[in-house]
Amino acid sequence: MASTPPKPAPARYHGVAILLHWLLAGLLVYQFALGLRLDAVTGTDKFAAFQLHKSIGITILLLSLARLALRLTLPRPAEFGQGAQKLAAQVVHWAFYGIMVFAPLSGWIIVSTAKLKVPTLLFGVVPWPHLPLPPAFNQPAVLAHTVLTWSLPALIALHVAAVTYHLRKRDEVPGRMFPAATSVVAGVIGGVAWLGLTAALGLSGPLPDLWSHKASPVAEPPKLPNPLPYPTPAMPSPNAEPAPTETAPGAEVAVSCDWTVQPGSKLGFTAHYGGEPINGTFRKWQARIKFCADDLPHASIAATVTLASAATGDADRDENLRGASFFDTAQFAQGRFSASGFKLLEPGRYAASGKLSLHGVDRPVRIVFTLVQRGAAATAQGSTSLSRLAFGVGSDEWAATDQIPDAVAVQFTIRAVRAN
Ligand code: HEM
Ligand code: HEM
Repeated sequence: MASTPPKPAPARYHGVAILLHWLLAGLLVYQFALGLRLDAVTGTDKFAAFQLHKSIGITILLLSLARLALRLTLPRPAEFGQGAQKLAAQVVHWAFYGIMVFAPLSGWIIVSTAKLKVPTLLFGVVPWPHLPLPPAFNQPAVLAHTVLTWSLPALIALHVAAVTYHLRKRDEVPGRMFPAATSVVAGVIGGVAWLGLTAALGLSGPLPDLWSHKASPVAEPPKLPNPLPYPTPAMPSPNAEPAPTETAPGAEVAVSCDWTVQPGSKLGFTAHYGGEPINGTFRKWQARIKFCADDLPHASIAATVTLASAATGDADRDENLRGASFFDTAQFAQGRFSASGFKLLEPGRYAASGKLSLHGVDRPVRIVFTLVQRGAAATAQGSTSLSRLAFGVGSDEWAATDQIPDAVAVQFTIRAVRAN
């Protein structure tokens, strides 16, 4: 039986392979240049630059895997040359593929094992997960990323030198990576200009804010379980009509100024890391509240917060917060806030001055809140801004404010019912 002769190798690369070669070449050069810029940019630009670097890097990883799959399946021109020349071409080409896969992988490991994890939202749209790896992988990954990415310019130089050699010899090699309609000289000039343009864009191009706050992957802090260690009665809806009293109209009723905090109350905070907001809540806290609008001089609040209950939607980051550089909960388990100087600012809006004890430091703190009171139920919502450094929260490498600004916003919603 006559066997079918093998198909002759094509004269040039497949159109898709050519497209991916030039697209990936441009992306790699852009990405390298952007990588060099990561250290220099500051503030929100830094965050934008990292989100862009991660987005382009993961795109490179996915396109390179596709390129490799096509290389193994699509017909391609026969390997050129003999002996050492052929081997050198193979080494350089496979080294390129190695960098195209392992440089992005090492970058992904760096961000997955960083002390403070910043979520990745590819191009502001697609949440990208962190690899489940221990922190011990971080330093080797940084080293691998540096070595792999710095090999790129060396390989490009060798590759372009080889193409120049083939151009001078006027053989068919340079034309194999250009579409048939392109003259080889125009192709090479266009290719080099394309890489020059992407290098310039990476070094000094715009850093668009890819972070879509609408699609923020920062997990909503988990719903608070009952923050109180004791059971509480069901809370009437704040909109409900006041419950009718059994007392005769006009009778004097002694109204209690003590309030019991109800489930649904929330104590949260917002810090920033590299321009990105990080929202957290304290899951365990309690407060004793004395408040009668017509007796402000005797109003008071005393709250105790279990600092280890801070939850930001990322277990590793929470572990960090509990650690010696931040709250140091092994030494300072609780934060305490007490205030008694209440003032009416305008109807329904109050300020209270008091003292916050945190991380072994006492500082005056003023809170401002609105109060909606309906019968025996009340909702207070307020906030304050704290200087974390004034309390010594964030030491060593975390004391610098370019990555983590000093100001941390604290917000609270307290739902309470009047105690009998
Ligand atoms: C970051 C820049 C670049 C990368 C990563 C890159 C990568 C590669 C890879 C991996 C191959 C092997 C294709 C295969 O057999 O699967 C290849 C082939 C080729 N590249 Fe590049 N390249 C880059 C820049 C350039 C430039 C600037 C030129 C032209 C001036 C060029 C011209 C060619 C040519 C002509 C081939 C075909 C070689 C052959 O058929 O043996 N490349 N390139
Ligand atoms: C082929 C793709 C990539 C290239 C060419 C590249 C290039 C670079 C370069 C040149 C640097 C600066 C290195 C230095 O100054 O020593 C850098 C840093 C960095 N890259 Fe990439 N990168 C790539 C992919 C990624 C990906 C996918 C990620 C994350 C998902 C990433 C995350 C990082 C991080 C976190 C740093 C800072 C590392 C440090 O702490 O020193 N990179 N990259």
